[in-house]
Amino acid sequence: MSIEKESPAPTAAPAIDARGLTKRYEDGVRRREVVSDVSVVVPQGALWVLRGPSGSGKTTLLGLLGAMVTPTRGEVIVCGEPLSRLRDHHRTRARRRLVGFVFQELALVPGMTLTENVLLPLVPEGGATNAQRAHAAALLERFGLTAFADTRIERLSGGERQRGAVARALVLSPPVLLLDEPTAHLDAARVLEVVAMLAALRDEGRTIVATTHDPRLADSASVDRVLDLADGKLVEN
Ligand SMILES: Nc1ncnc2c1ncn2[C@@H]1O[C@H](COP(=O)(O)OP(=O)(O)OP(=O)(O)O)[C@@H](O)[C@H]1O
Ligand SMILES: [Mg+2]
Repeated sequence: MSIEKESPAPTAAPAIDARGLTKRYEDGVRRREVVSDVSVVVPQGALWVLRGPSGSGKTTLLGLLGAMVTPTRGEVIVCGEPLSRLRDHHRTRARRRLVGFVFQELALVPGMTLTENVLLPLVPEGGATNAQRAHAAALLERFGLTAFADTRIERLSGGERQRGAVARALVLSPPVLLLDEPTAHLDAARVLEVVAMLAALRDEGRTIVATTHDPRLADSASVDRVLDLADGKLVEN
């Protein structure tokens, strides 16, 4: 009887490898560096929080980490893909596959139903297949939204919209999920629900980074690490 040796698992690339990310905005004669030389490696399957006061650069850095914002200097490699080095068209396609993004203002489209909103990321891919429609329905069920599948966005509560935006960000099954202030304007019970949802998604192997200045999220035991940002720079803690 021969004993087959398992080959060692390939070393997984980090979920996010950010190197020297810098973002400078120029308006007229004024130049402002809003993110300065941020290097950070986020491992796969982690739930991290990016914390800092208003204006410290959290949203900008989150955009840089997900290659939604083009860095002035530095680069970001997501799951081994050097996203910031790819040209626009390729970067957009790769990013859509790798990163789900939940905006602070959610960016759901009023006048459309919840299901139509959740399927929106599939439009540039040529529309939803039956399997993708089934996946979207399963996501709505997971987040307790099945009853609202055909409801227009403007009829949903804040918490329902929040969960709908997460469902939309997951419809392409990206390994990385980025959320900007996911607990803003939610009451205490809803905050606990959001934290539990993020922890469950992390426990399935996804990598999650959320910005916040909400201690109810940042101080949660479910969070693996808190990065503090001040004036666009990471603060050692
Ligand atoms: N497109 C832009 N053009 C010029 N300046 C910008 C732009 N986007 C952001 N900024 C500036 O960069 C700084 C950081 O903004 P950012 O939105 O990243 O902060 P934040 O930490 O997310 O703040 P908040 O907690 O209020 O959401 C701010 O001073 C903002 O005015
Ligand atoms: Mg912000």
